[in-house]
Amino acid sequence: MKHSLKKMAALGFLLGATNSWALDLDVDASKSLTKIQPTMYGIFFEDINFAADGGLYAEMVKNRSFEFENRLMGWKEPNTSSQSFNEQSGIATIIHTDQHKTNKNFARITVNNDKGYEIINEGFRGMGVKKGARYNLTLKAARHSGEIKKIVVQLIDKDQKILGETSIAPNSSEWKSYSAQLSSSATEAKAQLKISFEGKGIIDLDMISLFPEDTWKNRKGGLRKDLVQLLHDLQPGFLRFPGGCIVEGRTLAERYQWKKTIGDVEERESMVNRWNKEFAHKPAPDYFQSFGLGFYEYFQLAEDLGAEPLPILSCGIACQFNTGEVVPMAELDPYVQDALDLIEFANGDLNTPWGKVRADMGHPKPFNLKMIGVGNEQWGYQYIERFKVFQAAIKAKYPEIHIVSGTGPFAEGPHFDYAQTELKKLNAELVDEHYYKDPKWFRENAARYDNYDRTGPKIFAGEYAAQSVAPVSPDNKNNWEAAFMTGLERNADVVTLTSYAPLLAHAEAWQWTPDLIWFNNLESYGSANYYVQKLFSNNSGTDLISISYQGKPLTGQQNIFASATKDINAKEIIIKLVNTDAKSQTVAININGAKINGAAKWIKLTSPGLDDLNSFEKPKNIYPTESKLETKGDKVSLEAAAYSVNVIKLKMK
Ligand code: AHR
Repeated sequence: MKHSLKKMAALGFLLGATNSWALDLDVDASKSLTKIQPTMYGIFFEDINFAADGGLYAEMVKNRSFEFENRLMGWKEPNTSSQSFNEQSGIATIIHTDQHKTNKNFARITVNNDKGYEIINEGFRGMGVKKGARYNLTLKAARHSGEIKKIVVQLIDKDQKILGETSIAPNSSEWKSYSAQLSSSATEAKAQLKISFEGKGIIDLDMISLFPEDTWKNRKGGLRKDLVQLLHDLQPGFLRFPGGCIVEGRTLAERYQWKKTIGDVEERESMVNRWNKEFAHKPAPDYFQSFGLGFYEYFQLAEDLGAEPLPILSCGIACQFNTGEVVPMAELDPYVQDALDLIEFANGDLNTPWGKVRADMGHPKPFNLKMIGVGNEQWGYQYIERFKVFQAAIKAKYPEIHIVSGTGPFAEGPHFDYAQTELKKLNAELVDEHYYKDPKWFRENAARYDNYDRTGPKIFAGEYAAQSVAPVSPDNKNNWEAAFMTGLERNADVVTLTSYAPLLAHAEAWQWTPDLIWFNNLESYGSANYYVQKLFSNNSGTDLISISYQGKPLTGQQNIFASATKDINAKEIIIKLVNTDAKSQTVAININGAKINGAAKWIKLTSPGLDDLNSFEKPKNIYPTESKLETKGDKVSLEAAAYSVNVIKLKMK
């Protein structure tokens, strides 16, 4: 027997690497095991990898208000020289004034002669402009002295060729906002913005900004359309923002403070991005936060995506991988107040102070916030101590709001166990768990939640991604987590929110890999993981049903993993089947408890090579394909390709 099995396997190999015996699976569609929560598949947004400034936030000018540590970072003055001041064509000086509460710096431009003084902004690793597209320029200016008659604004390509031009005639000695439009005569990934002057004199400039006219929903100063579209296509159940470690800050002073990110864009205080110097192997000294994408815009984005907003706030502990500064308990109040005020900002009516702020910003209707997170990846008793205070205060004022707590960055071990035990005692509702583990861990943990305590908190699998080399290694390549995801779905009674992390990465400015979506200044594409997420999210179904092999859940028998749901509205059974084997496998599925109506839809995502990736050149190298699968009575069989994710959709009579 042993001998003949060996022979069969060898034959299978010769015949095209197919396991020659079928795996017989049983689906029971008669019983709903639990509801699949609409929040099951969501997205995690963090301003890492230039995801906000230089990414989703479509601003093209870097350091538009001269607030970076190095005030002229991102700006060049090519025609200045080492000559004496009077011989120079001109110069930009930074004026720092306490008369402005937040945006304290501006550029004072002195134009000495007609020798062509200019300043050039390099954008975020260049500016991506498209042929025929229009761009909105805005700036603030105040004529100080002399006769500067015109500010000439040009888009130039990498060889200085002019791609588009407009001009502004400054006419006031007071600060005044000006706007103009220019279009590009060519597509260029590395364009820059050149500003020159007609006349001599001194003029003050601030908030020099350039946005594509064509943004998501055509909002002025809005978001990059292609990137939001990719998010929209995921049909996410929630949007978690603004992170991640960015919530915590390297120090408490650098924590994310939502109140500083709302209101008039130019009054939002810029700040260094915590990923700026985090990794010596990927320094990004020009990474700052303008907060043009702030909390109002996050809520608005969640609304646009049809996703539940899930803001996460500092709990008074700075990132424990950095300083780990902890605010004394006696000084925790302002942090707690921030959480209470945020709920009012999101949901309060127009008679409440923060509800009015929201309305004044253009959204009189509430954002309908249902969940709020306290802390990101904290560990130890200081977290629990602080969480208790938040929990009491939030529940006292807003009992209907669900609070997300966390077990820290570790998927297991003493810190994890401690947090889990304490949070259970506190009747925590939703606990955020993170897993940045190797691909093997993901396969081996498909049953992680099978025996989880059903009486404890619900789980938010808030950050996960398979790390092919090691966590935080710049050599990590995208690896799939589909097998593990079937385990999340099979346990949808306890796991109610899940999100891959990080979400976005600029191909020339990233700090962390792998990521779900990659972009440069012109294009973007989804990684294979993006399509895995999309398959699960777009085909979540409404009710979990059972799928088994010899009476047991599929957690890797013969390297097959599976979960099944039904959609009671669409009258469909949806089976997700993952083959992690290097060989294709024949799988037969018997449907019990429902009658099948016609052929099935089979969506398949596969790639023969484990190292295969999507790229700008081949954005659909790994991409779902759709075909029909014949059914025989209430049975369907398929050849699950090596390394494949399969979604099989069967119509019920
Ligand atoms: O996703 C990148 C980082 O990983 C997040 O900021 C943090 O929460 C986790 O450690």
